[in-house]
Amino acid sequence: MKLNMFRVNSLALALATLSFGQLSLAQQESLAARPPMGWNSWNHFRNKVDDASVRAQAEAMVSSGMRDAGYTYINIDDTWEAKRDANGVIQTNSKFPDMKALADFVHSKGLKLGIYSSPGAQTCAHFEGSLGHELQDAQTYAAWGIDYLKYDLCGLRDQMKLAPDHEAAHKIMLDAYIKMRDALRSTGRPIVYSLCQYGDDAVWEWGTTVGGNLWCTTGDISDKYSSMAEIGFSQAGLARFAGRGHWNDPDMLEVGNGGMNTEEYRTHMSLWAILAAPLLAGNDLSTMTPETVALLTNREVIAVDQDPAGKQGDRVTAEGPIEVWARQLSDGSKAVGIFNRHDSPLKAHVDFHAMGFSDNVKARDLWTKKDLGSISSPHTFDVPGHGVVFLKVSQ
Ligand code: GLA
Repeated sequence: MKLNMFRVNSLALALATLSFGQLSLAQQESLAARPPMGWNSWNHFRNKVDDASVRAQAEAMVSSGMRDAGYTYINIDDTWEAKRDANGVIQTNSKFPDMKALADFVHSKGLKLGIYSSPGAQTCAHFEGSLGHELQDAQTYAAWGIDYLKYDLCGLRDQMKLAPDHEAAHKIMLDAYIKMRDALRSTGRPIVYSLCQYGDDAVWEWGTTVGGNLWCTTGDISDKYSSMAEIGFSQAGLARFAGRGHWNDPDMLEVGNGGMNTEEYRTHMSLWAILAAPLLAGNDLSTMTPETVALLTNREVIAVDQDPAGKQGDRVTAEGPIEVWARQLSDGSKAVGIFNRHDSPLKAHVDFHAMGFSDNVKARDLWTKKDLGSISSPHTFDVPGHGVVFLKVSQ
């Protein structure tokens, strides 16, 4: 009898462990079944982010219509941290008097709250990192009601430098990401896991195995066409590594920060949508012009980014400064971006047959929101300098 009870208990334990494991994997995918959309404090606020500015972003995300367009996460980046208390529990600094209350406020708006840390002893801005406190920090985040963690390598590079060779350094990094993955999962709270290590060691090849829902594929973006274009157009070839629950992240948006013109910001949004990139606005949502709101909330562009099939697009052709990129969509159509990287207008001759279409195609311009009707192939488009013609094309 005792033996039977033991067996029953072991079986129950095994099943529980199995279902916990399965739940975790399923959860990982469903947590980010589509590329996460939201806002991140870094690009605009840097170290100035505080409780009041985060609350203002949450309010503006609702009043601007961004929440209804799909934006959900309000992500606090670096500089919220203070030292640990005597028990090792991470504290917030004076900019964030009560993180739990802030999370409650963000949740009350129908939004989710994200936070930032590093697997190293220090973050990039030299605040307290999670090294040696991973489980404790994950538990603190869960207790606060955090829904998203960006985990930024930075300080861990000090440990990696001490490794005897590259392989050993790589293992230190993987182990650190796995440690936090397991810590987050053990809390039982669904927390999106965003890896940030600037695309090193081809993170797209192993990001999923360490639990990443998304991973930076690049160094930091800045609010200049040259930076955005260099990052965006260098993403060719990465499509096969992304999919539901695990996305390539070419960094946060700069739309609305003022360093690019409208054509350039349209290029930014269109390219990120083709790349199935996370759409994390990086501007001050509380002071947006109507034009910025329109750029960020174009539903047809967002629908490309969030297409349920989750297939990232890729470059089709590059002829000098004209690049054509396409993304297969779940309804059988394709999103086609015709980009001009030159700073003055150019004509682009686009061959839709080379993209698998036959005869004439039907096209809709996603920025002017106009049906172009039936067009023949090849077709010539006028593309503004640094701009894009962004189409949804069907047979
Ligand atoms: C790194 C990251 C940025 C930002 C800063 C914060 O540079 O790549 O996105 O998180 O750290 O210190």
